[in-house]
Order: sequence, then C-alpha cells, then structure tokens
Amino acid sequence: MSYKNKNLPFKTLHLETQMVRGGTIRSNFGETSEAIFLNSGFAYNSAEIAESRFNGEAPGYVYSRYLNPTLKMLEDKLALLEGIPAACVMASGMAAVFASIMCQVKSGDHFIASKVLFGSCFHIATKILPNYGIDVTLVDGPNEDAWKKAFKKNTKVVFIETPANPNLEIVDIKFVADLCKKHGAKLIVDNIFASPYSQKSFELGADIVVYSTTKHMDGQGRTLGGCVLGSEEFIKEILLPFHRHTGPALSPFNAWIILKSLETFAMRMERHCSNAQKIAEFLESHPKVKRVLYPTLKSHPQFDVAKKQMKNGGAMLAFEINGNKNETFAFMNHLQIIDISNNLGDAKSLITHPSTTTHSNIAREEQEKIGITESMCRLSVGLEHVDDLIADLNEALRLTPNA
Ligand SMILES: Cc1ncc(COP(=O)(O)O)c(C=O)c1O
Repeated sequence: MSYKNKNLPFKTLHLETQMVRGGTIRSNFGETSEAIFLNSGFAYNSAEIAESRFNGEAPGYVYSRYLNPTLKMLEDKLALLEGIPAACVMASGMAAVFASIMCQVKSGDHFIASKVLFGSCFHIATKILPNYGIDVTLVDGPNEDAWKKAFKKNTKVVFIETPANPNLEIVDIKFVADLCKKHGAKLIVDNIFASPYSQKSFELGADIVVYSTTKHMDGQGRTLGGCVLGSEEFIKEILLPFHRHTGPALSPFNAWIILKSLETFAMRMERHCSNAQKIAEFLESHPKVKRVLYPTLKSHPQFDVAKKQMKNGGAMLAFEINGNKNETFAFMNHLQIIDISNNLGDAKSLITHPSTTTHSNIAREEQEKIGITESMCRLSVGLEHVDDLIADLNEALRLTPNA
C-alpha cells in the first residue's frame, strides 16, 4: 500500500489554499483528512537505525516530546501561515513565550520588554527573569526615545506585544527591529492579538514570532497550544535543545484540532475583523462610552503606526465606559450574548475586565500607569452576527445606571 504526497508550490498559492492544503503529509493509507498520531514513542527495525536517527544521520521520528507526524504537519502549516522558515509547537502560548526567551538568555544578560504586557508575560519579565540574574528594562512601547535609551552593551533579547494585551497599545515593529539589529539583540514579537491574518511581524523585521494557538488559530476555545517561529538556524540550534530537554511538548490531539481549525482560519479572521471594526465604530459613537481603543480607529493614539504595519485592526478591542468599577461590572453583567471570560480568540464573543482578572497580578497603581483602568473592558469579537452583538452591547449600556 502506498500513497505519493503532492508537491504543491505553496509559496505561490493564496492564504486560503495554503491553510487547507499546506503541511499535510498523508500516510500510505492516503487518508483525506490529516491523521492523529497519538503515540509517544517509535520502534526501529534495528539498533543501527535507532542510532542513526539519534545522531541525525537518518531522517525520522524518535519521541513525541521531540516531534511526531501530527506535530510536524502543524509546524509546517504554521510556518506557511507566517511566511517564516521554521516553527516549533508547544503546550501553551506561555510555554512558547517562556522558551523563546529562556533559550537565548543567561545570567548577566540584559532583556528589554514593552511595558504593556499580558499578566503572565509581565510576570516572566518582572519576577522570573531577575531571579536568574537577568537585568530587565521595561520601556514605554510607543516612546521612540525611550527605546533608543534602553539598549545596553549586553542587551540580548527584546520582547514586545503589539497590539498589546489589554489596551491595544501599538509598538512600531520596524523601528524596534532596526534598533535590535544595530545593537546585536534578537527581537521577539508576541503577535497573538493581531494574529498572522492582520500582521506579519517577520516581514517587519522580527527575528522570532510567538503565538498562543489557544486563541484564533484554534478559534473555538477547545485546546491550549503555542508556537515559536523563526529562522531554521534559530529553531534548530537554539530553541530545540531547550525545548527537547525541558519538555513543553504539545499533545498530538491538540495539534490535530489546531491543524483542522487552520483550514478555516482566513475565512474566520476576515469575519472576526470586520465585526470588530463595526463594533469599534458603534462603541465610539455611544454616549456612555468614554473611549475605544482599536488600531484602525483614527482616535487610536498610534493609528499611523497601526496603518503602516497592520492589514486591518484585528479582532480585539478595548473600551472604557463612563463610570467606575461598579458601573463596568453592571454593564458586563447585563450582556446576554457576549460571555464574561478571560480567554480570547473564540467564535463566541468574550468580554474581560483585565484589571481584576488577566492583569490582576499587576498592582493597581502600576496598572493605572500603563492605562489599565477599572472601567476598561477588553472585547474579543466573535463570529456571531454583528447586528446581534451591537444590540447586546447597546442594551447592556442602556441598562447600566449612571454610565
Ligand atoms: C498576549 C498574550 N501572550 C501570551 C498568552 C498566553 O497564551 P496561553 O494562554 O495559550 O498560554 C496570552 C493569553 O491570553 C496572551 O494574551
């Protein structure tokens, strides 16, 4: 029994075709849908073959903590999606963030990150890295002078989230990438809020791009997963030795779910983003809304940079309603369709109160300094009909007293 896999010219094909066809490796059974290889180990016909797989002389798999055919199919599809040579999938977005940093730094190195970060990324930067003797500087993301001053002789790695979680603050990727090149540092971009549909960070100069596949790549809130993308050399020589021996491996079952979800990624993202744009415009015109943060609204403080580096505004937005924490909670509690959740990137629209959930590990006064107020909501716009979402938001605002 044998099946000959097709060799399609993926680089010349459109995103939709790449996501349906890319990465697929059919076994000798010729199955149409990708197979799930739920195996931990591999058997060899001889000790010599085992030896040659381990010393890299022969191709083939050795252990699912390293790689297996389902994980490999996902890695190849993700590399195609981002337009980056190589990928390594991991058990969660945080595993990907942590591994992408830790595989490159050692005690005595200097690390820079933009100040507005997802709570767990902020924890790594401010609590974990200093414990290992790494000198950390946090920079006001949109402030170019602050970036220029932040670099030191021993700056090794720079980490940015753009748009940032939760306030959609934008960092100019090309500007920071050029500084990194000048100072010999590597730039990691957490591209989770934009997704590769709205922003191609590698094309803008990033060395490494990280994702939580938990979000729009799964897109239906089922699995945890993560991914690091970079040059072949970075993935093979620097990341893989860290990944293989520390074990943040992705379950092949989760990899399979993400693999299948990516087939509809472009279509889903198109709708997520157009819904988000309409909702941002609706909220901006509402008298009970103090301000809306969405990259392609002219009122966004970094609108010009967003226009330069993003294809559209993405599927995430933040807004503040008139009022304090009580009014904000009341508004959230009045929503009927939109769920209250700390997750994002689901077909279901999800609203978050970052100050008391995703960013609650950051002290209130620190939150205020980076613009996370008690009246701020973060909205992950889903795939429901946009008119129903707007009606839900409108009614919840109407029912919110004193807002
Ligand atoms: C910007 C950002 N980075 C990293 C993560 C972590 O992803 P995961 O939950 O898959 O570990 C998240 C999760 O919300 C996030 O928003």
